[in-house]
Amino acid sequence: MIISANFKTYKTRKDTEKYLEKLESNISQSSQKVIIFPPVTALQKSSQNAIVGTQNCYPVKDGAFTGEIGLSQLDEFEIKTILIGHSERRNLLNENQAEISEKFRFFAKEDFQIIYCIGETLEIRKKGEAELFKYLESQFENIDLNYQNLVIAYEPIWAIGTGVIPTLDAIETTLKWLKDFTKKDVIYGGSVKTSNIQEILSIKYCDGVLVGSASLNVYDFSEMVKIADEVEK
Ligand code: PGA
Repeated sequence: MIISANFKTYKTRKDTEKYLEKLESNISQSSQKVIIFPPVTALQKSSQNAIVGTQNCYPVKDGAFTGEIGLSQLDEFEIKTILIGHSERRNLLNENQAEISEKFRFFAKEDFQIIYCIGETLEIRKKGEAELFKYLESQFENIDLNYQNLVIAYEPIWAIGTGVIPTLDAIETTLKWLKDFTKKDVIYGGSVKTSNIQEILSIKYCDGVLVGSASLNVYDFSEMVKIADEVEK
């Protein structure tokens, strides 16, 4: 399974180096695919057991794009994994579907592993399943679902950083719908922590998790990887 950590705008380069060192020794026996997404100033090469990916990148090799980073800056650390479409970028940083799909096209052409994030607001969720699926489908506009190295991260916005998660049945239904629709691996994100990861990973259609706040503590995140190893699939 994929057990991934999104540090968002937390942790310095030094913090991330220490974190990776600890993580590396804690998970050396694990068979999970472990990915961490540090802030861009803390990018570094992947370690033996943990892949380092980027939370974002502008879809260029390099050029005059003040404040952005491009492929050259990722190449320096041999980064080949990227998060695209996270709700914080869609909503707080106003990335629209056209920009997101352009980013997707660019990084697919560069053979990146893409973790493509989608998820609904509580308002949409309250309208029922038909509306929910219609909305999720709209977040795939101009996204090539035939791209091989693609994983879908389902992250209901109302579950991110709130401590609230949908019922396990609701997660299962949505992950199943997503799997049928995309034919890809699907992971869940939104308030995953050591106390609920076991039941989330046990959901039949769940191929992993994307963890935000609870991943910031390396012991907790290592524990989550360990729990994943114990979940029978
Ligand atoms: P959270 O964040 O685990 O803090 O809810 C998840 C995410 O935004 O990827």
